[in-house]
Amino acid sequence: MLTHALIGDEGRTIELGWKDGTRTRFHAMWLRDNALDDKTRSAGNGQRLITILDIPAETRISGALIKASALEISFVPEQKTVRFPTAWLNANAYDRGEARQTGWTDVGIKRWTGATMQGSVPRADYATASRDRDVLRRWLSAVRAYGFAVMDGLPAESGALCKVSDLFGYIRETNYGRWFEVRAEVNPSNLAYTNLGLQAHTDNPYRDPVPTLQILSCIENTVEGGESSVVDGFAVAAALRAENPEGFRLLSSWPARFEYAGSSGVRLQAKRPMIELGPDGELICIRFNNRSLAPTVDVPFADMDAYYAAYRRFAELIEDPSFEVTFKLEAGQAFIVDNTRVMHARKAFSGTGKRWLQGCYADKDGLLSTLAAIEHGFKEAAE
Ligand code: FE2
Repeated sequence: MLTHALIGDEGRTIELGWKDGTRTRFHAMWLRDNALDDKTRSAGNGQRLITILDIPAETRISGALIKASALEISFVPEQKTVRFPTAWLNANAYDRGEARQTGWTDVGIKRWTGATMQGSVPRADYATASRDRDVLRRWLSAVRAYGFAVMDGLPAESGALCKVSDLFGYIRETNYGRWFEVRAEVNPSNLAYTNLGLQAHTDNPYRDPVPTLQILSCIENTVEGGESSVVDGFAVAAALRAENPEGFRLLSSWPARFEYAGSSGVRLQAKRPMIELGPDGELICIRFNNRSLAPTVDVPFADMDAYYAAYRRFAELIEDPSFEVTFKLEAGQAFIVDNTRVMHARKAFSGTGKRWLQGCYADKDGLLSTLAAIEHGFKEAAE
């Protein structure tokens, strides 16, 4: 509910007062560009029909009228009046008082540690998730919030992991194939295909862009050891920032280099930081993989000592068991990780018995799109 609308700065801005006492300002140009009328946006697909150059640079607000659940704004020199629902204005307000702290994440992102997650791993049964949209919604929404979830009840057979990605999107095919085998091999092309333990890592930081989701499914697991574990990279990065802001700054402001050239015809290389921030300081991606870290050549000589100390501390925190959630993947189970955030690890395992996993990549934007569409459908049904 709006209490007032005050035009300011000779029509360049408008201040809206809300019933709870808060005030939010908008710019005339911003409002005009985001007008919701059918000359500005297609009524069919919602896409914008005009360009910024169709809007006069001297656009001003000439009048504003509060209606029951909307605000009508008139713009000059176009002599155009546009209706903005108050709920829309509230949802799209950008006039924030406080500055965000470097490394901030969206309110929907829930950081976790072993203590908060070990006993409450998000999981769903495949058959249930594939027929019940609400179960699927909750599982996808756990991936959004925690960057990790388990799926039970898959067939323990080759290719079953595609059923998981089919629930929300598409597999991202790479040089490793549509999916790849994770089992002990003689002369492996990748250390993942051995019985060695693997330090917690994100996959394929040598790709640009990195695969944003990874699915690992288990077809057989009768070895001693070989447990999987996951670590919330966003929680670890926050811990590093809290205890060593300068180390966080170094890892997020200088690029690392990653490379994979383990099989013939492939030389993948990427230059990206271990902790990636967006232009507004949002924490957007963790890249951490000892196997594919190439020589770091972009950090200035004067900063290299401190950079390596920060890298070491980041690694120590990642290895700290308090951040870790461990589970043994059984035949017919899979887990999904947000590969821009959650690291996965494997304990070493014995030579007796068999451990056969398969892995594939998929895209987070597709998962989030499917989730948003399901949520939108539920909202519409409720209205
Ligand atoms: Fe991996």
